[in-house]
Amino acid sequence: MTKMAASIVEHGEDAFRKLFKFYKRRNPPPDLRDVIDFSKMVKHEKVFPTELNPGAVSDAEARRAGLRPIRDWTAFGLQGYPGFIFISNPFLPGSQQHWVRQCLKTYPEKPNVCNLDMHMAPTETQDIWGRSADTLRKTGSRVREPKTLLEKLRWVTLGYHYNWDTKTYSADHYTPFPSDLHSISGHVAAACRFPGFNAEAGILNYYRSDSSLGIHVDESELDHTRPLLSFSFGQSAVFLLGGTQREDPPTAMYMHSGDVMVMSGHSRLLYHAVPRVVPAPKGDPLHPSLEEEGPGSDQGLAQGEATLIQPVSEEDWAVCSGYIQTSRVNMTIRQVLGSGQAFPAMDTKDKRIDMGQMDGYHDNQDGENVGLKRRRSDS
Ligand code: OGA
Ligand code: MN
Repeated sequence: MTKMAASIVEHGEDAFRKLFKFYKRRNPPPDLRDVIDFSKMVKHEKVFPTELNPGAVSDAEARRAGLRPIRDWTAFGLQGYPGFIFISNPFLPGSQQHWVRQCLKTYPEKPNVCNLDMHMAPTETQDIWGRSADTLRKTGSRVREPKTLLEKLRWVTLGYHYNWDTKTYSADHYTPFPSDLHSISGHVAAACRFPGFNAEAGILNYYRSDSSLGIHVDESELDHTRPLLSFSFGQSAVFLLGGTQREDPPTAMYMHSGDVMVMSGHSRLLYHAVPRVVPAPKGDPLHPSLEEEGPGSDQGLAQGEATLIQPVSEEDWAVCSGYIQTSRVNMTIRQVLGSGQAFPAMDTKDKRIDMGQMDGYHDNQDGENVGLKRRRSDS
């Protein structure tokens, strides 16, 4: 640890909040030398290679989902965080683009739920992509007012829609989970030795260059023996992984485009946060893995082999690439119920759905979650 970061955590009390503020700071910008970069892993005292289950998914199944054969994945563990697995970009060249397009064009569509629904009429939040694409295509990521709907998007929920107010999922607020995302989640979980993972809920987070995500634990899911999966695309970010107590100082690491994180076992219920998006150098705004060409429309598949990954048209990619030149998209995928488990019966009068009050994804400047609001901030 550099002297700078060490002097911050020395103080002990609520070390997480202090490091969150350290990494979130704008002026002067923080020293990022202590941030672990798994893509440049030569040797790090806390990092060790982790063996996945190479036979969990056939090469053909992996390829169908846009993933390299599992035996080619690079996966790491972190000393002191059993159950935490970091997979450095397991995607096939050209296939991250599918997920970016899904996050920007497909998943924000109804019946999925997004932050804009909290304060806009249903007719106004239809076709977010269609209402934004032309402007974004023409002007790219230039700062411009008014912002397009896509630029105002902060979160989308899938499957069992997370209720930010009550911090619960419920049986009666469910819409079908996207099948492509269900498949890839099952493959990643299986590779990490969690066969039978059933993706039931997703929270997609959309970050502009000044966004952050406050300190929290994901504990609303009913079965904590199932892992939490996280997929990142676009701009890199600093991720802080803490302990079971707020006082435990966190470890900082980069998440780059294509990286996948798995929080399971002991690490399933640890405090974590995203204090900072780390924009790419000006002249080179897209991560190299997003510039890679795919195998073309046949996806390199044998004849008759169906694919989950749809090629992204040039027209669509013009919008997507403009957006992620300054933004980051993250998908966190959860299994809510254990196999055979059901939601506990609920007294109907306790079902408080108060959409009107929930416009929030704000935290205060310390990374604290404010009441029941979404712990987000765009400084
Ligand atoms: C979450 C979360 C992390 C990220 O949505 O619960 O922790 O990288 N997201 O956006
Ligand atoms: Mn989380």
